Amino acid sequence: MPASTPFFPRVAVIGAGTMGNGIAQTFASFGSKVELVDVNKEALAGGMQTIEKSLGRFVKKDKLTQDEAGAILGRISASSELQFVGDAALVVEAIVERVDVKTEVFGQLDEITPSTTILSSNTSSISITEIAAATGRADRVIGMHFMNPVPLMKLVEVIRGQETSDETTRTVMACSESIGKVPVEANDYPGFVSNRVLMPMINEAVFCLMEGVAEKEAIDTVMKLGMNHPMGPLTLADLIGLDVCLDIMEVLHSGLGDPKYRPCPLLRRMVAAGRLGRKAGKGFYDYD
Ligand code: CAA
Ligand code: NAD
Repeated sequence: MPASTPFFPRVAVIGAGTMGNGIAQTFASFGSKVELVDVNKEALAGGMQTIEKSLGRFVKKDKLTQDEAGAILGRISASSELQFVGDAALVVEAIVERVDVKTEVFGQLDEITPSTTILSSNTSSISITEIAAATGRADRVIGMHFMNPVPLMKLVEVIRGQETSDETTRTVMACSESIGKVPVEANDYPGFVSNRVLMPMINEAVFCLMEGVAEKEAIDTVMKLGMNHPMGPLTLADLIGLDVCLDIMEVLHSGLGDPKYRPCPLLRRMVAAGRLGRKAGKGFYDYD
């Protein structure tokens, strides 16, 4: 993992949860100084711990030396104040999948950051055009959709909003390549490509469980061994976060208006019960 000439010397990541900490780790691994911001101090500490653990796995596999891992960690500063994004040339927002919360944060980012800063969202499904409309720089707002777990997954789905400029798109495509990712461009429709295809599959797996078509382990095994997926859909839902899955289904349902996207009642029940998946220690499966 080269750290010599980062594409952007300073990057800010908003949200230190499942995605934000992986995004911060990835930019820092390629030499950027990263400001990691989260309103929740516990989430911030948890995010830093997850980064340390992930780097430790790379050290164990001789992909990084202990010194390199220390240097990467040293490039990440954690803060609970949005003001600390300072003069970062790129901001990647990775907070909760709610349009009202995202537009509020983008409005604030528009005031805090220099007018040249590119404001990107890691949203899984929400309209980039709508997020961009909360700023005075819609040409410099774009979707930068990383996949989970970020340090391992190659794809960045790059989503152009209605007003996103060619220059912003080119810059974000090149920046994604500079951090070892493969960017693929998509247009701004609910769920883009990734979750328009993936999330109905996960939702249908939850329907199978609810209707007693098979046990959870059987559903996952069918998709792992029968379709060669690296993990079954219920295990994957636990990895993503069941609240995130539900939020994405809601965006698909309301944005596309087709009843085939209705969230499974069992998915709603799991979220209501706080069974949010790995991050909560329990979802379809239990985790230590
Ligand atoms: N950092 C560093 N290394 C990690 C890691 C992390 N965060 N997570 C796992 N690893 C490493 C492990 O150390 C292990 O290494 P070895 O094989 O060398 O021992 C390797 O990755 C495999 O890990 P595990 O054995 O724990 O687990 P696994 O075999 O199930 O692999 C996986 C993990 C790469 C995540 C694989 O299961 C996989 O590809 N799953 C599908 C992931 C996927 O579909 N992601 C997309 C989700 S959808 C999304 O992101 C979009 C959205 O908007 C919802
Ligand atoms: P998460 O629940 O793990 O983390 C979200 C974090 O954002 C929390 O730590 C929370 O404290 C913080 N936060 C909430 N409001 C904030 C604010 N106003 N300012 C700063 N921090 C705030 O969520 P996640 O799974 O990391 O998802 C984040 C975004 O990434 C969502 O838009 C989601 O759709 C998208 N996404 C998720 C996945 C996935 O697999 N989980 C994959 C790709 C994209």
